[in-house]
Amino acid sequence: MKSVLVTGGWGFIGSALVRRLIAQGMAVSVLDAGTYAAQPEALDTVRANPLLREVRGDVADAQALAGAMDPDIDTVFHLAAETHVDRSIDGPAAFVRTNVIGTACVLEAVARATPRPFVVHMSTDEVFGEAAAGTAFGPHSPYAPRSPYAASKAGADHLVSAWATTYGVGAAIAHAGNAFGPWQHPEKLIPTLVAHALAGHPLPLYGDGGHQRAWVHVEDLVDGLMALGHARPAGARVLFGPDAPTTNRALAEQVCAALDAMAPRADARPHASAITPVPDRPGHDRRYAVDPSAANALLGWRAGRTLDRTLADVVGWYVARAQAGLLAPRARLGLGGAR
Ligand SMILES: NC(=O)c1ccc[n+]([C@@H]2O[C@H](COP(=O)([O-])OP(=O)(O)OC[C@H]3O[C@@H](n4cnc5c(N)ncnc54)[C@H](O)[C@@H]3O)[C@@H](O)[C@H]2O)c1
Repeated sequence: MKSVLVTGGWGFIGSALVRRLIAQGMAVSVLDAGTYAAQPEALDTVRANPLLREVRGDVADAQALAGAMDPDIDTVFHLAAETHVDRSIDGPAAFVRTNVIGTACVLEAVARATPRPFVVHMSTDEVFGEAAAGTAFGPHSPYAPRSPYAASKAGADHLVSAWATTYGVGAAIAHAGNAFGPWQHPEKLIPTLVAHALAGHPLPLYGDGGHQRAWVHVEDLVDGLMALGHARPAGARVLFGPDAPTTNRALAEQVCAALDAMAPRADARPHASAITPVPDRPGHDRRYAVDPSAANALLGWRAGRTLDRTLADVVGWYVARAQAGLLAPRARLGLGGAR
């Protein structure tokens, strides 16, 4: 890899990837539409670097893509997407447009480029639906998406496979569990818990809190994406995540324990005392679990920055954001109220 395009480079995972690519001396073009989810300030530390070029544009716009696709680009990391499941319940059309049509446009731009770049397509474990107790998703799990977000990501994955088969586009698909780390949009679970705790609000937990998710640190995920970009394993499909998932309640309690140590409540009660069940998300998948053995066998990848080792630091990052006035409680989405 020498020169890469990162779509969605102002987002949570995309910006972490861009920071790493620049640190390793690669030329990076970012194509990002700058939606509500974009945080261009996540690239402030590398913005002055001449290796970075940023283009504001829509992946579903062929002209914008053409403007971002320098002929020397050898690798495309396609991360641009609408990503929040709750929003996909309230307004699915934007998810179909960006995640499905946008991916088709990226693939067309790659198929027409000479020489053709390799594509690392960022997918999710959610395309496989719910994992039964005691099972984990693997590269051969059947697709069974249940939310509009997951269905739009599944559609994107199928397009990637079809462009590989039909047009010979070289591509690998990376399915990640729930990523966590700095710069996650404030609407996601960990920043939401911190924002509510520091504001003295109840900490919302969907349903009974027994939903299980495979949490993967964003820097572990970037390790995996970098390894795919270097290895260029055409047709590969890998899952990035820990060996075992965590319930949302256990995660919330771990966030609260970290907050008790660094930002205790004024009334000296534990933050966990404010955890409050709220109505569940419609169609909320009960359990995701991933089998990372394909990523390990192909790339030597493993999830090293586990929740136990890194969550307190991540919580500390959001506490600092909240104390700087950059993180505050937000209204609940995803109950279909906007439809
Ligand atoms: N965050 C997770 O836990 C997770 C887990 C698995 C997979 N993924 C996938 O990883 C990718 C990145 O996720 P994230 O959490 O960083 O997302 P994010 O919501 O933080 O950022 C998405 C970025 O894409 C940009 N974008 C949206 N629509 C666009 C369009 N039409 N054209 C160009 N740019 C557009 C946004 O402006 C934003 O900067 C997505 O493909 C997502 O489906 C995320």
